[in-house]
Amino acid sequence: MVAPHLGRHPDDDDEMNTATHTAATAGVDTAGAGMAQTVYLNGAFTPLEEARVPVLDRGFIFGDGIYEVVPAYARRPFRWPQHLERLKRSLAAVGIGNPLDDAGWTRLVTELIARHEWADQFVYLQVTRGVARRDHAFPQGVAPTVFAMTSPLVPPAAELVAQGVAAITLPDERWLHCDIKSTSLLGNVLARQAAVQAGAAECVMFRDGFLTEGSASNIWVARGERLYGPPKDNLVLTGIRYGLIEELCERTGIALQLRRILREEVQVADELLLSSATKEVLPITTLDGRPVGSGRPGPVFAKLHAAYQQAKAG
Ligand code: PDD
Repeated sequence: MVAPHLGRHPDDDDEMNTATHTAATAGVDTAGAGMAQTVYLNGAFTPLEEARVPVLDRGFIFGDGIYEVVPAYARRPFRWPQHLERLKRSLAAVGIGNPLDDAGWTRLVTELIARHEWADQFVYLQVTRGVARRDHAFPQGVAPTVFAMTSPLVPPAAELVAQGVAAITLPDERWLHCDIKSTSLLGNVLARQAAVQAGAAECVMFRDGFLTEGSASNIWVARGERLYGPPKDNLVLTGIRYGLIEELCERTGIALQLRRILREEVQVADELLLSSATKEVLPITTLDGRPVGSGRPGPVFAKLHAAYQQAKAG
């Protein structure tokens, strides 16, 4: 009764869920995956429910690791070179040795995708500093833990694209290296939960009166036909969609400027957008319960969304 757990539907009755939980998979939300998942751990491919990491892994003890989320369309990783570059930047920034060369990373991602039948997938890659007795300072001579998994990538529902999502504003209470794609995500987790508890899909965070980003997305502001985004500095994760949106703006004739954006500018925006690997680009149509601009997805979103779909297909 273990395997069917992977294919269970969220509406399955509790008894079924309880009966199929095991110590390894309890609480793992694989609903919708629809097939057995194979993950990669330290050089070997293994069924998800059999993958184990020692409790002294520094990822578990300290959140001492970095990660990537790579979308794949029609079984091809999208903007893979950019994701690989960011992965290497994150490793270098936290002083974890790169465990694989470029060809090795590419083989890993390709093989993981090939082992799953979904046309569209998102690949999660994680590297932690490895397993060692608990001590804050880096351990010497310890091999990093390398973990990778893939899941079905379902594009945002047509209803979200047509109507937009709700967001709330929050103070950005995270650390000062949000540019590193670190697995230490407690600040992001608490921010997302605050949004969910307020009935919203995402938060829009501010530090010292300026826009930073969402809990798991970048935020963009449109005034007329112009789009603004926060600068690529240590206060935001430079999403791989930054580069993509720069290209799409050029292609569609939208003027783009990256600069510090005041809270007051966000409050009078004609449009607010969010972007991420899994959400693509989505309109935020209410902020703190008030309509953004007309309260409907606007023309800048429409252009970027259409161009994004073309880029995915290309
Ligand atoms: N999050 N900012 C934060 C804090 C993020 O976590 C993400 C992505 C982004 C957008 O980056 P990109 O365009 O490369 O997806 C910005 C991923 C999807 C996640 O943690 O699941």
